[in-house]
Amino acid sequence: MFAFATESPKQVRVDLLVLPVFEGPEPGPGVAEVGLADAFGSARLRGARGDSLLVPASDGRFAAGAALLVGAGPRASFTPEVARRVLGRAAPVARRFGRVATTAALAFRGRQALEAVQAAAEGLGLGAYRFDRFRTKGVDDRRLRRVVVLGSERWDAAAMRAAVRRAEVVVEAVTWARDLVNTPAGDLPPAEIARAAQAMARRAGLTCRVWSDAHLRQRGFGGIIGVGKGSANPPRMIELAYRGAGRDRPIALTGKGVAFDSGGLSLKDATGMETMKDDMGGAASVLATMQAIAALRPRLNVIAAIPCVENMPSGSAQKPGDVIRHYGGTTSEVLNTDAEGRLILADALAYLVERSPELVVDVATLTGACMVALGTDIVGVFGNDDALVGRLLAAGRAVGEPIWQLPLHREYRSMLDSSVADIKNIGKRYGGAITAALFLAEFVGDVPWAHLDVAGPAFAEQDTDLGPRGATGVPVRTLVRFLLDRSA
Ligand code: BES
Ligand code: ZN
Ligand code: MN
Repeated sequence: MFAFATESPKQVRVDLLVLPVFEGPEPGPGVAEVGLADAFGSARLRGARGDSLLVPASDGRFAAGAALLVGAGPRASFTPEVARRVLGRAAPVARRFGRVATTAALAFRGRQALEAVQAAAEGLGLGAYRFDRFRTKGVDDRRLRRVVVLGSERWDAAAMRAAVRRAEVVVEAVTWARDLVNTPAGDLPPAEIARAAQAMARRAGLTCRVWSDAHLRQRGFGGIIGVGKGSANPPRMIELAYRGAGRDRPIALTGKGVAFDSGGLSLKDATGMETMKDDMGGAASVLATMQAIAALRPRLNVIAAIPCVENMPSGSAQKPGDVIRHYGGTTSEVLNTDAEGRLILADALAYLVERSPELVVDVATLTGACMVALGTDIVGVFGNDDALVGRLLAAGRAVGEPIWQLPLHREYRSMLDSSVADIKNIGKRYGGAITAALFLAEFVGDVPWAHLDVAGPAFAEQDTDLGPRGATGVPVRTLVRFLLDRSA
């Protein structure tokens, strides 16, 4: 669906040609060639981001069916990241046309051109996302069918084709993660998440094993069993493996897969539950990352163990004060059943660490406290290894998914001291994102580990440049970038 081409903007045969115009207005690449140098000015537009002008093909000035001029802001601050967002914003219109080309990458040279080719394709692909599965009325079924990123003949065509290929894989992965998260919990209990993972693994060529609740109980996954036992829908654990580097130690991933978080007996209020179908966003992002890695085949080994549960109150639910025994033997006192993510991740982390990974990364919609600290758009990262955290920060910066490091302040560990077990699952009122991370740290030993708290950015309450409100797919792009950088 995505392609790189060096045709002239005048000649490219698509349904829509998307051309940037910088502030001034100052025509961006291709605008003069297709005879539209004055169009923005004539329409009294200045080239600010959000400005746009749709021009139907008239007198044969260009071969495309129509041209969309899009405001791209100041020329000096036009980066590949801005290009991704500008094209993301144009995508809902572009999608109506079907086959789309853009000249945006032609504003760059060298290393930036490579980034821009990928970013432009991603922007169009991600911005065109819709979740219409449950709509029966007024559905616009026109789809983005083809994205052509125009570039220069002087560029390394093989490298540019690899960049659009990466964009295509990333867009497919993010789209799939968004679909999983947007699907209501009633349609996606743990067993269905596992089924979707198995189907993905078969398509992608990954090894996949799904652990049933009976297996999990038998092998001592007390955190997953404890959280899951209040629900009529039994838990699962999804294990995936990608092999691209012979016998190297694997990189290990896990993600919080709470299909629905009611809070359990420590019940949330009605508004607190409204978006809690998104509490498997960490799991979805790890699944999607594995899909992308299987398609891109880097020289790495990657394993994942993803716990999936439904956190419900019932006569069989775990109770505040219960003590559970995690995989590996550590016990925890469950004082608040709504702090459930850490309980299931503890089992998965202990299990992964047994496989002697080079490093472990977990992703979780873990704490409201992280949202209080960083707002809705920024991922919080914690870790016991600053080099690893640094690489995740760099990956996030490179793909435009903002991440900020928060401190794993060991002095706060005493807030988790329990009077009956090795650790309790809640701290005090303040520093809740930190005490949650400290709880997880207990289960990784001295393996390099990082924890991404995506409680805010996994789900957008408003439309963004890169998609409609709802699931965002964050941090799939960061994880894929991190893994590819790791293999390079
Ligand atoms: N899934 C929630 C965290 C969350 C809250 C994600 C809002 C997205 C939006 C998590 O399981 C939770 O309930 N955390 C509690 C922990 C508390 C009980 C220590 C929280 O953050 O309030
Ligand atoms: Zn939760
Ligand atoms: Mn909870």
